[in-house]
Amino acid sequence: MSGTEGLPARPAGVPLAALPQQTLRAPTLAPPAPQPAGYPPGGEVLFTAARIAAAVGRMAEQIDADYHGQELTAVVILHGGVVFAGDLIPRLHRVDLRLETIAARSYAGTSSQGAPQVHTHGPLEVAGRAVLLVDDILDSGRTLGTVRDELAARGAASIAIAVLLDKPSRRVVDVRAQYRGLVVPDVFVVGYGLDFEGRWRNLPDIVALAGTEAGEAQA
Ligand code: IMP
Ligand code: MG
Repeated sequence: MSGTEGLPARPAGVPLAALPQQTLRAPTLAPPAPQPAGYPPGGEVLFTAARIAAAVGRMAEQIDADYHGQELTAVVILHGGVVFAGDLIPRLHRVDLRLETIAARSYAGTSSQGAPQVHTHGPLEVAGRAVLLVDDILDSGRTLGTVRDELAARGAASIAIAVLLDKPSRRVVDVRAQYRGLVVPDVFVVGYGLDFEGRWRNLPDIVALAGTEAGEAQA
């Protein structure tokens, strides 16, 4: 079968350019891939589930090695940190681990509202313990800075921070994560625990919302 199937036969000796335009078939452009159901319209996948899994695996290996045989209290920041923590914590097999949670809220839409409100439920036993603070993203640093200070005030013996994502360009408070998975540019991302007004935490990929690049983000 020839590659010209469906085209009218070209008379011998006639160059292609001399043929009437309609006899040349334009290449078919593939239509843009439709956004999968459940994803934000116009969003762009920044990190696939496979890339996230690889990053979480690398972090878990490092944490497991650093705390090998030691006691560690993981304090997960709700809600954003739960999906990441759910993947990370079962990979820490060589650590004597306890699990605590703390809730912090500072965002409305895509903009931080300054100092986060922190809520504890129950005693939050960290006095004298090595703590691993687990959150989805280190952005301005206000949330992790506030929670870190709260745990230090409650007598934690040491505090290390594990975040899946780091947005260093947005830092306001001096907070460094000892363990970080992936660096993100200044865009607002959802998926894998991260939300916009409560939505899209369930997506397996990390997706940049359309129109939230630096300069376009809401004040
Ligand atoms: P920070 O206090 O500014 O460092 O922000 C930390 C918190 O804000 C994170 O725990 C997230 O819940 C939220 N956050 C920051 N950036 C994003 C984002 O791009 N998408 C979704 N949530 C974000
Ligand atoms: Mg959060």
